[in-house]
Amino acid sequence: MLPALSPQNGGFSEEFAIVPERDRDVEAIDALMDASFGAARHNLTVYKLRDGFKPVRQLGFIAMDSQGHARASIRYWPVKVASSSLRYLLLGPLAVDPAIRGGGLGKALIARSLERAVDLKYDVCLVVGEPSYYGNFGFTNASALGFKLPGWVELRRFMARELQDGALSAALSRGLIGPA
Ligand SMILES: CC(C)(COP(=O)(O)OP(=O)(O)OC[C@H]1O[C@@H](n2cnc3c(N)ncnc32)[C@H](O)[C@@H]1OP(=O)(O)O)[C@@H](O)C(=O)NCCC(=O)NCCS
Repeated sequence: MLPALSPQNGGFSEEFAIVPERDRDVEAIDALMDASFGAARHNLTVYKLRDGFKPVRQLGFIAMDSQGHARASIRYWPVKVASSSLRYLLLGPLAVDPAIRGGGLGKALIARSLERAVDLKYDVCLVVGEPSYYGNFGFTNASALGFKLPGWVELRRFMARELQDGALSAALSRGLIGPA
């Protein structure tokens, strides 16, 4: 179902480990997000589902360098569809330090965290991101499936994938996404 996760060092001379986010990483993660998306990211529709709500603690992962610093991060927020009792996630933000992009850390963070989300029995994962990137992880267009976000989004970038077999087969499993 999910691509196998192989240990990565990104082809860099430095080694990185994919580990759960720690309390001490919060500042470094904020800096990574600012460098990647800027402070204006809070105006994006997805932040209506994040600001004021807590991310899923068990799904926060970082790529840690040999000095113990967070150099890439992925987080998820819990979301819901009013008509459904399924458990939904919103993937992101995901960001890799610009100095070490393109070495597989983004893919490794997605693979590790999605495996954990499956283990934690989440049913459906949503994301707003590049289809050519997230398509590699089984995401398909969410809008075409019948999902809606509470604001404007570039529809081609809004994607979904099921984490448990059959989770998306019922029509009631799709609809307007709200904070959980
Ligand atoms: C997007 C991002 C997380 C990818 O992480 P990464 O460690 O640099 O990339 P990976 O090594 O995992 O993957 C590299 C592959 O992704 C592709 N890729 C990288 N960024 C991409 C993008 N924005 N759109 C489409 N494909 C992209 C590369 O072309 C490469 O393809 P290949 O494997 O076929 O050669 C990272 O570049 C980043 O932090 N970007 C800025 C923030 C961002 O856009 N986050 C995602 C928002 S949803």
